[in-house]
Amino acid sequence: MSTAVALAPEGAGAEFLAAIVELVAHPIFVKDRQFRWVLLNRAFCEMVGHPRESLLGKTDYDFFPKEEADWFRAKDQEMFVSGAAVTVEEECITDASGVRHVLTTTKVPMRDSSGGVTHLVGIIHDISRLKAAEEALRLSNEQLEQRIVERTAALAVAQEELMRRERLALTGQLAGGFAHQIRNPLAAITNASYLMQRALGDTPANQLRQPLEIILEEAWKANRIITTLLDNSRVPAPNRQSCRVSSLVEQALAKHPAPEAVSVVRELADVPPVLVDPHQIREALANLVCNALDAMPEGGTLAVEARCDGNAVVVAVSDTGPGIPPEQVDMLFRPLVTNKPQGLGLGLTTAQMLVENQSGTIAFVGGTGTGARFEVRLPLARPA
Ligand SMILES: Nc1ncnc2c1ncn2[C@@H]1O[C@H](COP(=O)(O)OP(=O)(O)OP(=O)(O)O)[C@@H](O)[C@H]1O
Ligand SMILES: [Mg+2]
Repeated sequence: MSTAVALAPEGAGAEFLAAIVELVAHPIFVKDRQFRWVLLNRAFCEMVGHPRESLLGKTDYDFFPKEEADWFRAKDQEMFVSGAAVTVEEECITDASGVRHVLTTTKVPMRDSSGGVTHLVGIIHDISRLKAAEEALRLSNEQLEQRIVERTAALAVAQEELMRRERLALTGQLAGGFAHQIRNPLAAITNASYLMQRALGDTPANQLRQPLEIILEEAWKANRIITTLLDNSRVPAPNRQSCRVSSLVEQALAKHPAPEAVSVVRELADVPPVLVDPHQIREALANLVCNALDAMPEGGTLAVEARCDGNAVVVAVSDTGPGIPPEQVDMLFRPLVTNKPQGLGLGLTTAQMLVENQSGTIAFVGGTGTGARFEVRLPLARPA
């Protein structure tokens, strides 16, 4: 300050200082006790977008929205009443083109020789850009946090999936081992029972006939469980080839022909071929078809639809049976979950294993009371 005064040309002090006020890059204004502008620098006029001539002698109420003018007036009054500087950390002002600026304003009292406050000197820092940067930072932080939440959730899902697969693999290995051990004694029981049945011949009313039939039937059932467990524990690597979805579906439907009371609807739009092991996928789809038919003993509609979705074909198998109660949904793909007297509870587990073997997915996608719907996603043979 003292340097600027020292450099002032001889005899031109007031003009020199006025020029400096005019050139300061921060908006400066001076108001009298009637709150009228009596001095404004160039930066102020440029910020509000009004020419100096129209501003001088006027007040905030002549140029700014009422709530802004009320705010400025209250702060001006605070300064005049207290006789002390007032700093407003953040306030808004709307310029002539309707753009809102965010300001930090300091209002300082100017006194006459007797110490009375005659004017208010205001210096403004336009912090709009700072606020915009702050807002952008806040938004990007928010997005970052959101991304972290999403990634963490995805990680948890992936971890859960990994654990599920590990559990399944272990269960499969164990089951496979036990199944192998049990198979031989079971075969011996079946053979012995069969021989006894033959030895009995046609002897009428033999008391042993019925128990023997039960032994054979149960042994057959146990054997079926063992075969399925063994199959599940040794799913071979897929022999992937380009397959037409319609032929996979037809083969699956042929494996479990629908009774007359069930009408079969096919909506196999012109979907591109998929890259899968045809035997494994036919087996997986057949399990879904079988379940759908089981769910409609009185008849209904079995629908098989295919649609393209990104780099996959989605095959949906739905029925008009009773659907699946919500409490059962989470357990659907777990082994040995069944509500059928003759069921093993391995159909969906097998289907999932086979579909995932092709990098596909299988999911129950709805239907409670209105039937069940399962969707199988299979990779395209020629991804886009
Ligand atoms: N379309 C469906 N409608 C209603 N319930 C279904 C349907 N599909 C599956 N379920 C339910 O899920 C259970 C498990 O099905 P899953 O195919 O794994 O075994 P399952 O059919 O009982 O026996 P299996 O091993 O012979 O297939 C079924 O017992 C049934 O309760
Ligand atoms: Mg089944």
